[in-house]
Amino acid sequence: MGQTQPRMSSSDSAVDGYDLTLTDKVIAATGPNAHPRLAEIMPSLVRHLHDFAREVNLTVDEWTVAIDLINECGRMSDDKRNETQLLCDILGLETLVDEITANMVADASANGSATPSAILGPFYRHDAPLLPNGSSIVKDLSPEVEWYETAVADSALITGRVLSSASPTEPIRNAIVDVWHSAPNGLYEQQDPDQPDMNLRGRFKTDDEGRFSFYCLRPVAYPIPDDGPAGKFLAMLDRHPYRPGHIHFVVSAPEHRTLTTQIFDDRDEYIQKDSVFAVKDELIVSFVPREGDPNGKWLLEYDFVLDTVA
Ligand code: BEZ
Ligand code: FE
Repeated sequence: MGQTQPRMSSSDSAVDGYDLTLTDKVIAATGPNAHPRLAEIMPSLVRHLHDFAREVNLTVDEWTVAIDLINECGRMSDDKRNETQLLCDILGLETLVDEITANMVADASANGSATPSAILGPFYRHDAPLLPNGSSIVKDLSPEVEWYETAVADSALITGRVLSSASPTEPIRNAIVDVWHSAPNGLYEQQDPDQPDMNLRGRFKTDDEGRFSFYCLRPVAYPIPDDGPAGKFLAMLDRHPYRPGHIHFVVSAPEHRTLTTQIFDDRDEYIQKDSVFAVKDELIVSFVPREGDPNGKWLLEYDFVLDTVA
């Protein structure tokens, strides 16, 4: 088999020694009682997979390396770390399926004005503490903390409303704003034994006007975990592992579609080069300086708009 075959499609007849009926045989092997969604999508997957292998002249040695990589991801994954998901993230696949899902939901809804979604990422924790509006998600900050100075300089107040996309937009009371972000050392609390449990996480319930408010820190860029196979793969591609500074949210309310999203700080040097491709223009925010409050030297006002359930 030559090393410089031209691209070929399985829809062509036999070309240059490839038995192109192989693809059709694999597709035809699916039985009549196959899971309906699998029966629908597998012909496309098999065709793309076979076309890819033929197009790049994939060798047994290369295929073995890929299998080893996927196996290593699986071996490394547990309930604290999902390396296979990380591999998908650096290939943009989680962002793509998030976008596809959001488009399908938007098509089904009456209104297209909802806040865009962004991927959940691997560091969400259920049951973050429910805190009163106006309180802080920064726990036990003292001068002994390694990143104390940065935390003081980057202390921020975030206020906003949760609105329903129903026209005209209406504030939603009792919506839950679930928020989490990493510390100035780039680590989420579950990655860092020096941070208190549930540091930089909280849930806030909106008031009668749909308002929420809390203190946090302006987010900083951090590398995705790159000490495993996904990181090795990034290095082989000559890529950096950084995500721009961002804050994660899950915003939920009865009769509305739950919104999973992130906001991105516009000061960040990685804003146009997120290693997992999650940045959307509508989610880029500008914190403004604030006087007279030592707990919040920056202010961000941001409203979330939720779609109603069709
Ligand atoms: C995160 O933002 O937390 C994240 C997202 C994808 C991969 C790794 C980390
Ligand atoms: Fe994150």
